[in-house]
Amino acid sequence: MSVMDLTSMLFVPAASAKMIGKARSLDAPAVILDLEDGVGIGEKVSAREGLATNIGESWPGRPLLFVRVNSPGTEHFEADLAAVARLPLAGICIPKCDTAADVVHAERLLLYAGASADFHLCPFIESARGIVHAAAIASATPRVVAVALGSEDLAADMGIRRTKGGAELAYWRGVVATAARAAGAIPIDGVFIDFSDPEGLEADAAVGRSMGFGGKQIIHPSQVGPVARAYAPTDDELDRARRIVAAFDEAEREGRGVVVVDGRMIDRPIVLQARRLLSSL
Ligand code: COA
Ligand code: MG
Repeated sequence: MSVMDLTSMLFVPAASAKMIGKARSLDAPAVILDLEDGVGIGEKVSAREGLATNIGESWPGRPLLFVRVNSPGTEHFEADLAAVARLPLAGICIPKCDTAADVVHAERLLLYAGASADFHLCPFIESARGIVHAAAIASATPRVVAVALGSEDLAADMGIRRTKGGAELAYWRGVVATAARAAGAIPIDGVFIDFSDPEGLEADAAVGRSMGFGGKQIIHPSQVGPVARAYAPTDDELDRARRIVAAFDEAEREGRGVVVVDGRMIDRPIVLQARRLLSSL
């Protein structure tokens, strides 16, 4: 089991005290109070200044609390980091990371602003440059606990023509998932913007999970359930995994390395997949 459950990360516009209040009591693994694209230009400063008050003295253990600051290079970046450095956060999301230097820069500014020694970061990869530097971004510092794919900004930057099914994202999803896993971080899949289509969301989330993602960004409370369903192993998957492990353990005791379960060849890598599934419970 990973250190943090980030199977869904719900964006909550930081300019909305009402939505932040609602987010506090949601049964969601994690929320991201957003100072970036969820907040209009005219509300940037007030959203930042109201953040500490809206979070309050304490925040429950669930949902885990993240804040997304404005991106490196914008006029708000440093002031946002200074404002969030001492908040009781599970992590700070840094959007539009193009290089590892963006992550290291954010880390230094947070330390300078008095962040506690053990804060976590979640860089967003959402540009062609970010994709090229994905592995370096993910491993820029051990504070990187998760790496998120910003699929819509990436589509804008690359000229990708988005479809609802999202098949066109396969390569970029693979790059981000691989970079994150190689660095020991949790890869977080992009948003599914049609929040009135729970079936479409569940299918999209299932594709992400099958590509190695550990969770998905979401935008509406109604998206928590479908994503949780997509990421939870089914009873059939669990049953099969248990039978694979049991059969293989028995075979190993007898000195054999390959067994057959349900007409399928089972060897070590198949057993590793089964064990991984069981350990995610
Ligand atoms: N976080 C917390 N509460 C939310 C929410 C969110 N992301 N989205 C909706 N809600 C609340 C609404 O305030 C409303 O509460 P109420 O019943 O107490 O009035 C309830 O859930 C139902 O919302 P609904 O009327 O269906 O949606 P909406 O029209 O109010 O909001 C969006 C739709 C898309 C504007 C809103 O979901 C949103 O802002 N999402 C996040 C967008 C974002 O941050 N984008 C940037 C990153 S991709
Ligand atoms: Mg983005």
